[in-house]
Amino acid sequence: MSWRLELRGASRDSVIRGGPGEFGAFVSELSEWGGEERGRAYVITDANVARERADELERLSRFGPARPLILPAGEPTKDLETLGVCYSWLAEGGARRDDVVIAFGGGVIGDLAGFATATYLRGLSLWQVPTSLLAQVDSSVGGKVAINLPAGKNLAGAFYLPDVVVIDPVLLDTLPREEFRNGLGEVLKYGLLEGEALVTLIEGCLAGVNQRLPKALDEIIERCVRYKAAVVQEDERETGLRAVLNLGHTIGHALEKYLGYGRVGHGQGVVLGLLVALRVSEELLGLDRDVRPRMLRLITALGIPTQVELPDIDGVLEATGWDKKLSASGRGYVGLRRLGEPVLGLNPPDDLLLEALEMIRI
Ligand SMILES: NC(=O)c1ccc[n+]([C@@H]2O[C@H](COP(=O)([O-])OP(=O)(O)OC[C@H]3O[C@@H](n4cnc5c(N)ncnc54)[C@H](O)[C@@H]3O)[C@@H](O)[C@H]2O)c1
Repeated sequence: MSWRLELRGASRDSVIRGGPGEFGAFVSELSEWGGEERGRAYVITDANVARERADELERLSRFGPARPLILPAGEPTKDLETLGVCYSWLAEGGARRDDVVIAFGGGVIGDLAGFATATYLRGLSLWQVPTSLLAQVDSSVGGKVAINLPAGKNLAGAFYLPDVVVIDPVLLDTLPREEFRNGLGEVLKYGLLEGEALVTLIEGCLAGVNQRLPKALDEIIERCVRYKAAVVQEDERETGLRAVLNLGHTIGHALEKYLGYGRVGHGQGVVLGLLVALRVSEELLGLDRDVRPRMLRLITALGIPTQVELPDIDGVLEATGWDKKLSASGRGYVGLRRLGEPVLGLNPPDDLLLEALEMIRI
């Protein structure tokens, strides 16, 4: 079944549509669109997606005057130099303000192509066609676009809602297993944030999720997207509520930083961060002690490790000091009073965080 929702932003709106086969439906509708007078599509992707989803790329590229821009895959591509490559490619291809950029890829392409689109000619139309699970449930929705600077991740960016987001779970069947797991970390975050219904839904279709059956994934993805869209609609520029989306991320990012990017997957980092957040929430918010073992069972069934080697847990705490999400007044940590009821702005004491980190340590 296909689904559709509208996210109303301060200066732009997003139409978000999804479902198994939605890519094909979207491309068919596109045949009515475009042409010299009405705008053209410039497609940006990465080398893995270009190889694994060659047919879809070919179909998207028909609407552009230029061949797609195929960038190297991976986080290092989200940098200033490659942003320059995008600008030059748009300029050489004669992109105009009524043209569209289609970001066809995971979160790296979405963030980079999105930032290029937000800034080239002060903004073209942006369409996101996410191909990783993380991008489908999270990064393609909500308009945060950014590149990394030598001083840190996502330091140069903008809030720029895509006009269209097309989310087709069929595209996920070529995603490497580790990358699929990265997306599952975010899915579990949305489960805790949204509440009982989503957690029960995931528990009820574990086999389908593990086999990546589009039908099983579709409803889960839709619920994650609806949750995020509702939060973003209320707080597009992250002045308050949107920070709930950082649940599990303060410790998750610290683990990635402390262990070295790539040594612990982003998804595993988030999952471990969620477990720490649940332990902290038991103490500070009286979270029911049944939630954590329930999540542990779920995480294990999804094949994600629940512990990691941590030579020095103080080092993890220090690494949180770099997290740009910390507020000046305290840790700005996100906890959970109960499933579906996040609480912002906690300031957990060090000894509680250390005890919680001990729990995820092998
Ligand atoms: N803007 C936001 O709100 C937001 C939110 C969360 C994360 N992010 C950003 O997202 C990025 C991570 O995104 P990601 O996990 O998608 O990483 P990614 O874009 O690097 O994709 C992961 C890997 O999977 C490959 N891939 C993607 N789709 C594929 C497919 N269908 N078949 C085969 N291979 C495929 C890619 O080539 C890449 O090697 C980070 O830079 C992070 O900062 C942004």
